[in-house]
Amino acid sequence: MEFKRAVGTRRTTRYYQAWRPVEKEKVQKILHAARLQSHHGNAQEVRKAVVITKGETPDAVRDGLIDAVYNQPQAHQAPVAIVWCTDMAGWEPLRPTLLKLIESGSLTSSYGWSEEFVDSVVMKTPDFNVLAGDVEFAKWLSAFECGLGVGSALLAATDEGLGTGLVTGRREQIRELLKMPESVIPTQIQLVGYSAESTEAGGQRPRPDFEDLYFDGTWGTSYGNDESVVAELSDAGMIQAAAPLPHRKAELRALAGMFGLPE
Ligand SMILES: Cc1cc2nc3c(=O)[nH]c(=O)nc-3n(C[C@H](O)[C@H](O)[C@H](O)COP(=O)(O)O)c2cc1C
Repeated sequence: MEFKRAVGTRRTTRYYQAWRPVEKEKVQKILHAARLQSHHGNAQEVRKAVVITKGETPDAVRDGLIDAVYNQPQAHQAPVAIVWCTDMAGWEPLRPTLLKLIESGSLTSSYGWSEEFVDSVVMKTPDFNVLAGDVEFAKWLSAFECGLGVGSALLAATDEGLGTGLVTGRREQIRELLKMPESVIPTQIQLVGYSAESTEAGGQRPRPDFEDLYFDGTWGTSYGNDESVVAELSDAGMIQAAAPLPHRKAELRALAGMFGLPE
């Protein structure tokens, strides 16, 4: 799928074909999309995930996860759940990962990068070596890093023709269930499966106006939202018809009937 169309077609899917498994290679591709995302200092071991698969992972573990995500119906239906985590221990190899970036020609001597610079400046500056500073900032940055990867993973699932969406859960319960070490914090759970909804899923979900979110030069001065660019993005499938589409109520009634849920 073309990039702009993948961005525009992604929805939080809330109804899945519970009977249809997801090919393992599709899950693998989703994980790769997260792995290749950018990361501060390339300390890629901060974002990790555990995949829970219906029919493969023991039922007790999958049931425990469904319970931990407040028994949201879509978690019962989706055959795959990816539990995205941050691992604070993943910051520890920051120095070698920076040195590898120098060796690989990514961080260059023209910009002052050297082993000596890494040791004397970077490792001593909390904004760069987050373990040298405030733990709250380190946790915040770790969540940011994880979110970057998850954003790609959501788009990769859409690109594979799958439904996907995030759900929130009780983090401590999930940590214990999946036997995670102390350094690991579960963040959000990405559900993956074939969508039981139409691709439009009722239309693109509401967003605030562009002008109210993005500023030019100074806070509060709207960045221009050129109509011709909006038209180009609409043609490319990034901007799609806004929810609710006229048939959405009927679609939701049909889905409720299919899954035996109240309307
Ligand atoms: C971090 C995060 C947690 C979310 N948790 C839930 C959830 O527990 N249950 C749910 O139905 N949707 C959840 N969502 C989905 C949002 O409600 C959804 O993204 C939002 O309504 C916009 O819709 P869209 O993703 O289709 O554009 C979550 C989204 C994010 C980013």
